[in-house]
Amino acid sequence: MKKLFLTGCVSLLILSCSKKETPVDATSSETTAVSEPAKTNLSGDQIIETLDCSGCHSVNERMIGPSYKEIADKYSEKDIELLASKIIEGGSGVWGGVPMSPHPQVSKEDAKKMVEYILSQKK
Ligand code: HEC
Repeated sequence: MKKLFLTGCVSLLILSCSKKETPVDATSSETTAVSEPAKTNLSGDQIIETLDCSGCHSVNERMIGPSYKEIADKYSEKDIELLASKIIEGGSGVWGGVPMSPHPQVSKEDAKKMVEYILSQKK
């Protein structure tokens, strides 16, 4: 009897999960996190914090990728468009053989904001 009751509960759970709209809390915040990055109201440095950039870049020191200061010294305002595409599409060959990973989830606007922040790190 107890077993039957349990089985009934489980199948009810499965049914209600697959049929009705997804359970409230967990998933709704997850969907926000996934769909949000397209357009944020964050500033360039805040966007960088939400992404994986810091794993390969830092402001002053060359890590896997060039430091933001080095990038700022090499480029100017007119290169914003180019660098923004590089963030989204990835690429290699400018600083060495190590490729920069693509970030297709980043919008062009956000990429430009990050580039503006990076360029503002000029010595
Ligand atoms: C997996 C490591 C890695 C991650 C993660 C990464 N980068 Fe890079 N990045 C690199 C490497 C390596 C280069 C040098 C590529 C080259 O030589 O062309 C680079 C180059 C750059 C450049 C200069 C591009 C050029 O053509 O000179 C910018 C700007 C940049 N990264 C910004 C970012 C931003 C912003 C993020 C986060 C969205 C990020 N990177 C994440 C490794 C990374």
